Amino acid sequence: KTNTQSYDMQGKCPFGGDRIGGAVSTPPALSDWYPNRLKVELLHQNGPQANPLGDDFNYAEAFNKIDLAALKEEIKGFLTSSVDWWPSDYHNYGPQMIRMAWHSAGTYRIADGGGGAGEGLQRFAPINSWWDNGNTDKSRRLIAPIKQKYGSALSWADLMILTGNCALEIMGFPTYGFAGGRHDAWEADNATYWGPEVIHDLRTAEAPDKMVNRDKRWRGQNGDADYDLENPLAASHQALIYVNPEGPYASGDPLGSARDIRVTFTRMAMNDEETVALIAGGHAFGKSHGMVPSKEIGMPPEIAPMEAMGLGWHNPRGKGNAENTMTNGIEGSWTPNPTQWDNDYLTNLFKFDWKQEHSPAGALQWTPVDPNAPKTPDAHIPGQMNRLMMMTTDIALKVDPEYRKVCEKFLGDFDAFTQAFSKAWYKLTHRDMGPRERYLGPEKVNENDLLWQDPIPLADYAPIDDADVQALKQEILGLGISVSDLVFTAFSAAVTHRHSDKRGGANGGRLALAPQKDWAVNRRTVPVVEALRKVQEKFNGAAAGGKKVSLADLLVLGGCAALEKAAADAGVPTDVPFTPGRRDTTQELTDIEMFTWLKPVADGFRNYLDRNFKDIAQGVAPEEFFLDKAHLLALTAPEWVALTGGLRAMNANHDNSPYGIFTDRVGVLTNDFFTVLTSTDYDWKKADATGMTFSLEHRSTGESRYVATRADLVFGSNSQLRAVAEVYAGSDGHQRFVKAFVKAWDKVMMLDRYDVKTSYSA
Ligand code: HEM
Repeated sequence: KTNTQSYDMQGKCPFGGDRIGGAVSTPPALSDWYPNRLKVELLHQNGPQANPLGDDFNYAEAFNKIDLAALKEEIKGFLTSSVDWWPSDYHNYGPQMIRMAWHSAGTYRIADGGGGAGEGLQRFAPINSWWDNGNTDKSRRLIAPIKQKYGSALSWADLMILTGNCALEIMGFPTYGFAGGRHDAWEADNATYWGPEVIHDLRTAEAPDKMVNRDKRWRGQNGDADYDLENPLAASHQALIYVNPEGPYASGDPLGSARDIRVTFTRMAMNDEETVALIAGGHAFGKSHGMVPSKEIGMPPEIAPMEAMGLGWHNPRGKGNAENTMTNGIEGSWTPNPTQWDNDYLTNLFKFDWKQEHSPAGALQWTPVDPNAPKTPDAHIPGQMNRLMMMTTDIALKVDPEYRKVCEKFLGDFDAFTQAFSKAWYKLTHRDMGPRERYLGPEKVNENDLLWQDPIPLADYAPIDDADVQALKQEILGLGISVSDLVFTAFSAAVTHRHSDKRGGANGGRLALAPQKDWAVNRRTVPVVEALRKVQEKFNGAAAGGKKVSLADLLVLGGCAALEKAAADAGVPTDVPFTPGRRDTTQELTDIEMFTWLKPVADGFRNYLDRNFKDIAQGVAPEEFFLDKAHLLALTAPEWVALTGGLRAMNANHDNSPYGIFTDRVGVLTNDFFTVLTSTDYDWKKADATGMTFSLEHRSTGESRYVATRADLVFGSNSQLRAVAEVYAGSDGHQRFVKAFVKAWDKVMMLDRYDVKTSYSA
């Protein structure tokens, strides 16, 4: 029964007849009938229409007016209180808020920059309803009065992380800092791929078919050489933040668990030391909740009854909270003093041998063999002392040789442990914020030494002015480099940007550094970079008044100059915007391993497909990767279409191949790509058995004119993209196309310019 059907309409339907249902959201819908259709509409998610603050709302301005110290005092005051509808454990909400903040940030994965704390997505499905996020709905609701008081000046995304920091601080932990600047999303994220399984609830995974659930995302068996997790995923199971606390398949196998932890935490961009610091640090606080078998627990928030008002996991036993709380299923605390920062977690983990037992909810967990091991106070029942608890994932840190080394180091040096956790927590919670220009507030840490922030040193020279820009454009165009090469190079510099975690982009001039300079897809840029470097040296050697130009600026400027020429040659003279101010960074400030994650598998804009990509039977079609790329560049469908058509007109294919170059005037900004693509004079034929390439024949003469890839023909075969392509192909379409292309081009060139952006979407 859908919500609409359960609505009492007294047998009468406003649409006539005796039919009930058929409202706008009633299934089935398009993607139920055609699940494999290319979902172009995903580009228009979380747009201005969804944002109640309006597109001109300036979050940075509003946030900067907050007295952060006063706000923190308010949060801390609340954390050491208790309310009746959800009493705090140990009279301290701190631990559950740390978990809320960690789960908010912990969905981040390095492969596509997806997940993370940046948009407050824990408020929406599916994340709000993952079993692993049990009772984080209560944590958010508890701090809702603070959110209400500060209103739009404090995003949920910022509040969740700030509350986590306040929680750590009240329990004696020195945090490394806090930066605001996270912009809330206003709708569920429909685009992120969370894995192949349709099952969302770990309780279902606990059923005998859980092996199937797991095997879909894993290759090989735990322990095999080829044991690996499908990219871009960073969780061992659907609906988990990272790994099953009971070990792989809830097996209680600590070594297997260690392997899963390493795979998943590496995907979160954490090394062994950071991983141990985070787990051992986090579990110094609070407790696990497992008093009731999971089958008795109610539906998660997204499908809970309406009167639950957005809360989920109703617990029917006793009070349903406090000493009856059921969250994940494991019961107990790791330390004798769960509201104090100390080294007891590691001390007890190593001092005692641990044996398996089951929680009241039936989950597998560990307790000290020694009956005289320290006990921990009950979170609610005065005077009751309980035995300590460890999860299989905690025991994993002791049995894995590498993790063990880190634990031993931390055991012997509490200060080193504290510092490592402090820095790792800061990284965890700020990892997806992008450049430090996005950081707000008095507590942001402005050091240049955090490599994961992809640092770009500040300029210590005078910037170029308009006259310099004009002169440099002329100089670049006089170098004899083709329009095609200049456009390709500028685009290649900018296209690495990911709107997801705000990494990549032209700023920094990293196209000229490893690893990007060595990627096959960038090969065409090498001579252009060399030539532009000479222009830079000449300018910087001769410019008066301490002026300098960065290579990063020149890479973009070259593309802009070439584009102006291409538009003029097409009879539509156009000024292409250029905003100087990009800075160059250094090889030392570039984490090669982390930047290698930005290397594309496919980039339809440059008609590139990795050599290892064989055919679409492998799973993801090139056009889906292309959509993914457009999504990472935050493009709309019209922008995506215009940008591709223009890049083809100027031949920005990575290997200079003829695919998609439907013009005899290469390098001129014509709309030929669209007129040919939508023409009825031609017939497209498969040019290879797998349907990766095509050739175009004239219907009357049979003459073969052009060749294309899937990244070309998708603009004619997909109905939504074709609708846009028809506009640009129309008799009145050329000017509109040039305008749209230049706008989209400038958008891509400016995606990473957080130093000059002010809009809400920054
Ligand atoms: C609680 C698992 C890493 C902080 C829990 C709970 C589980 C769990 C099952 C109990 C939830 C409940 O029933 O209330 C894991 C696993 C991890 C991991 C499998 C990775 C291998 C972390 C990290 C942090 C953290 C990295 C923070 C840096 C906490 C805190 C609690 C907690 C503070 C206590 C919550 C409370 O008292 O309500 N964890 N965790 N955990 N976790 Fe973790």
